[in-house]
Parts: sequence; C-alpha cells; structure tokens
Amino acid sequence: MGRLDGKVAAITGGASGIGAGTVRRFVEEGAKVLIADLDADKGEALAQELGVATAFLRTDVSKEGDVAAMIAETTDRWGRIDVLFNNAGFGGALGPIESTSVEDYDLTMDVLVKSVFLGMKHVAPVMKAQGSGSIISTASVAGLRVGYAPHLYSVAKCAVIHLTKTVAMELGEQSIRVNAICPGFIATPLAAGRPDADESQIDQLRAAGASSQVLGRVGEALDIANMALFLASDESEWITGREFVVDGGFEAGPPWSRWPRFARMERPIRHHRPPDR
Ligand SMILES: NC(=O)c1ccc[n+]([C@@H]2O[C@H](COP(=O)([O-])OP(=O)(O)OC[C@H]3O[C@@H](n4cnc5c(N)ncnc54)[C@H](O)[C@@H]3O)[C@@H](O)[C@H]2O)c1
Repeated sequence: MGRLDGKVAAITGGASGIGAGTVRRFVEEGAKVLIADLDADKGEALAQELGVATAFLRTDVSKEGDVAAMIAETTDRWGRIDVLFNNAGFGGALGPIESTSVEDYDLTMDVLVKSVFLGMKHVAPVMKAQGSGSIISTASVAGLRVGYAPHLYSVAKCAVIHLTKTVAMELGEQSIRVNAICPGFIATPLAAGRPDADESQIDQLRAAGASSQVLGRVGEALDIANMALFLASDESEWITGREFVVDGGFEAGPPWSRWPRFARMERPIRHHRPPDR
C-alpha cells in the first residue's frame, strides 16, 4: 500500500530538480500528480514517462490566471486536491543593492513569493470544501540566515516561511495543514546556476560541494522529496505552521574547530575545579 494512495497533488516546478524528484516519489506512493511548470518540453516528457497517474499543464506561477487554472485542471481531472506543493523557483536578481533594478525586484518577488500566495489563495476554497489538505512550499536555508544567497532570494524565502505560518493559523480550523521546507545545497540545475545544466555539470557540483557539507555529500532532489512526502501524507496530520530544514546539517553552523581562534590554541585543557580540602 502506498503512503499517498487515493491522494491528488499539484506540484509547481515539477519538470526539473526537486519538483521532478517529488513527482516521481509521490507517484511511487500512489498519488495522482499534476506537473505544473513553465518548461513544457521537460514537463511533458516526464508526464509521458510516468503515464496516467500524471498530467502536465504549462503554468507560469507568477500569473494569477495560470495558478487558478492549475487548481481547476487538477480538480476537473481527478475530482479533488489533497496536496499543493508550491515549489517552482529560480535564482532571482543578482548583484549589489544599488544596481538591482525595480524590474528585477518585481520579477524575483513574483516568481518566489507571489506564486506561493497565489497557490495558497486558489487552493484554500477547494481544500476548505473538502475539510482537509496539505500545502507545502519550498523556502530555503537562505530564508533563515543571511549570507547563503543574494539579497532578494534570501528575503523572498524568508517571506515564504512567514506566509506559511500566518496562513497555517487561518486554515487550521478546516484541518488544512501548511508547512515549508528549507533545503540546503541540492544538486539541481538551479544550484548549477543554469536551467539547462546537464548531468555532468551537476556531477561537478556534487564533487565541489561535498567537502563543505557536514554529512559529506550535497543534497539530492530525493532528500527534499522524502520530506515533502511526509508532509503530504497522513503521517504528519498533527503538524502545521512549521519550516523543516533539510540540509545535511549545513545551517546548524560551521564546526567550531574551523575558527582560526580555536585552531591556534594548542594549550592543554585546564579545569577550574575548586581546590581539594
Ligand atoms: N537547489 C538548491 O540548492 C535549492 C536550495 C534551496 C531552495 N531551493 C528551491 O527549490 C525550488 C526548486 O528548485 P530546484 O533546485 O529544483 O531548481 P530547478 O531549476 O531544477 O527547478 C525549478 C523549476 O521551476 C520552474 N519554474 C521557474 N520559474 C517558473 C515559473 N514562473 N512558473 C512555473 N515554473 C517555473 C523551472 O522551469 C524549473 O522546472 C525553488 O523554489 C528553489 O528556490 C533550491
């Protein structure tokens, strides 16, 4: 028996990386999944590979009409929607604050934050009528701490975490759960800095990033898919309003022994015990 038997999900950014890994995982566990993405080539290929348990809809998550259509397509096709995974994203605006344009600001916020707001807004009435549902959004460790990503990406992911909490407070009464996942460094085209990155470029990323990870390897889409699976399933039925860090230990902080101050210390440990009487 699958952990998502009988459940229906829509996954944005489902054509690549974390989203595609989650589509595969959900289907393995018995769900029907709508793959929503801007990238029709990759999205349609995935839907064709996985068969009747999936369908693809070209969706721009920053456009309200597209997000509304995504929810309608899911319910028209399968009669309900148990899980919405707001996951689509990109790297957003790069560069110093004084040279970031307002257009870049708007685009970054539209794709990373407005999309999540729109997903929640349009799925809420359907889930309320059902009296159940799980909304999951992909934030980032960059939304918890500064220094891991450019200004606007960090701010956008922080907003996703806060939106998750405030909407969870509103929808709890109807048994709708709202949670976020904060991935660390995951080997995907986004982390490689280009949407068309191939497997060999992603392999280089794996090799380069492994030594800076507590657990000795970078994250894989499956690491995040497994958390999304837990949050989508009834196993997490008493969990809402939380952000879940899945980062191989990265965000907990660097090992204390890496600080030069401690590396220089070669003195033996001195215990400050009271003198014996
Ligand atoms: N890879 C990482 O290290 C990492 C870390 C933390 C958070 N994240 C987040 O994970 C999520 C998934 O990223 P990924 O690493 O799998 O990247 P990815 O590039 O492999 O996948 C992102 C997908 O989102 C789609 N997309 C982009 N803009 C869209 C839009 N406007 N409408 C619809 N689809 C759109 C892309 O076409 C692509 O298929 C993003 O929200 C990202 O910010 C990634």
